[in-house]
Amino acid sequence: MTDTFLPPDRLPVWQALRTHRERLAAARVADLFDADPGRFDTLSLTACGLLTDFSRQRIDRSALDALIELTRQARLPEGVDALFRGERLNHTEGRAAMHMALRGGCPPPAADAAQLQDTATRMRTLARELRAGALKGASGRPIRRVVNLGIGGSDLGPRMVAEALAGPAGKHPVTVQFAANIDPQELDEVLSGADPAETLFIVASKSFTTAETLANAEAARAWLRAALGADADIGAHFAAVTNAVAAAVDFGIAKQRLLPMPDWVGGRYSVWSAIGLPLLIALGEDGFDALLAGARAMDEHFRNAPLAANLPVLMGLMGLWNTDFLDQETLAVLPYAHGLRSFPAWLQQLEMESNGKRTLRDGSSTAVMTSPVVWGGAGTVGQHAFHQLLYQGTRAIPVDFIVVAGGEDARRQALANNALAQAAALTHGRSLDEAVAALRERGADDAEIRRLAPHLAIPGNQASTTVLLPRLDAYSLGALMALYEHKVFVQGWIWGINSFDQYGVELGKEMARRLSDATSSARRDGATIGLQRAIAALRRGDPYP
Ligand code: F6P
Repeated sequence: MTDTFLPPDRLPVWQALRTHRERLAAARVADLFDADPGRFDTLSLTACGLLTDFSRQRIDRSALDALIELTRQARLPEGVDALFRGERLNHTEGRAAMHMALRGGCPPPAADAAQLQDTATRMRTLARELRAGALKGASGRPIRRVVNLGIGGSDLGPRMVAEALAGPAGKHPVTVQFAANIDPQELDEVLSGADPAETLFIVASKSFTTAETLANAEAARAWLRAALGADADIGAHFAAVTNAVAAAVDFGIAKQRLLPMPDWVGGRYSVWSAIGLPLLIALGEDGFDALLAGARAMDEHFRNAPLAANLPVLMGLMGLWNTDFLDQETLAVLPYAHGLRSFPAWLQQLEMESNGKRTLRDGSSTAVMTSPVVWGGAGTVGQHAFHQLLYQGTRAIPVDFIVVAGGEDARRQALANNALAQAAALTHGRSLDEAVAALRERGADDAEIRRLAPHLAIPGNQASTTVLLPRLDAYSLGALMALYEHKVFVQGWIWGINSFDQYGVELGKEMARRLSDATSSARRDGATIGLQRAIAALRRGDPYP
């Protein structure tokens, strides 16, 4: 890959896009539908079983053509090639980003192939033994509960997929649970009612230095010792997934229970690695393999489909258009499936830890906005909470609706209908005239109509994308997750940032370490000193100082 980098706003097409923005800034999507009855067909695309509809975005064909031209001028195809070839695109850390290799989307580096194969075999054997009740704890009883101790990428992916696909606890031979927070409440809740003799902990940490995970692993060890006795073989109750094998061995993890992950897998892209062990246990090999197959299909699509018919490319471009040209600062992600309730949390890390950055490839600062604030929650629950702001608040907020077609169940059908209704209502809103007509129909008199109509009016024109899944199964979810992974790559590449490092979060970690260290002479500001005094007083049972 040649490295003559230009930030996106210095590419010739950026100016053309500004002109499109002037043209479309005040456009109403409802009018665009009226003007073009074929709009849905032109602006929706099916790939890997996912139908994705962009027709509710404030965009038209010529603006979209300019965005496609942007991908050419930004040499995105070269970037995609480099990604799949395993070039060190994570240039700050000198690493490749090859999570696709874990699902067969590209070959792994030759030097790692044997270890990857060995890890895959051992994690599958471990999961098989667990599911068969053949893995015994220190007292000879079979392990029936697995608790994953990890945070960030070592938690969010497996947790989200398990919630979506594992089905109710008790349905499986082994109960799989997760604890991430250093707040003891989470692990205490997970372990309440658990039998230490039948519990196995997976310490999942790429770096094996993460404070929360190590504190929870220590707490787990103490819990096991207290119940099983100091002489018991506690090692029989632990496994670990890490890139820092020596640190895990120091912690006391037995070598045969240690599953290495390569350094070219970023935490937020790691669910496909041995970090997915909880999923192999909860879903079995068929389920896990179907997840990988869905993601692999999206890799193939991303790598081979032409730019204008490439789902991750189009999704990335829609987001970039909203962020950089329509000044929309957030992205609401609304999965209409209880199983996907943690999808927004998974996506928050993926998008914001990847692209929440301002320094460009050449060390200069970006002149354009990068990652939006990603937020959201499951429909229909959110309809009764925050959707009000989407309808009548003062901000333009694009939405990604994730909808499952749903089968025969009437409530599932209602769920999908609700999603479609929300998307349509957010596009069309309700004009003042329509509000007046509705009030008149209800029998309101003129004074009442004058008083209430402005409150009933809804501006509409909130942009949305709808991603339709045939069903909530492993294949579709794998494809959906890989779709967002590649979307993030598309945006990061065009913005010119490194989507694969996360230096920002290191500062907060460092501060926490210094605050926990009583001997540290690090400077504390007035607020920290004041709050530390107040906390110390409360801990002593004294009033606020
Ligand atoms: O603090 C951020 C982070 O480094 C994430 O990037 C990562 O997924 C998470 O912490 C957990 O890291 P580890 O797997 O090394 O414990």
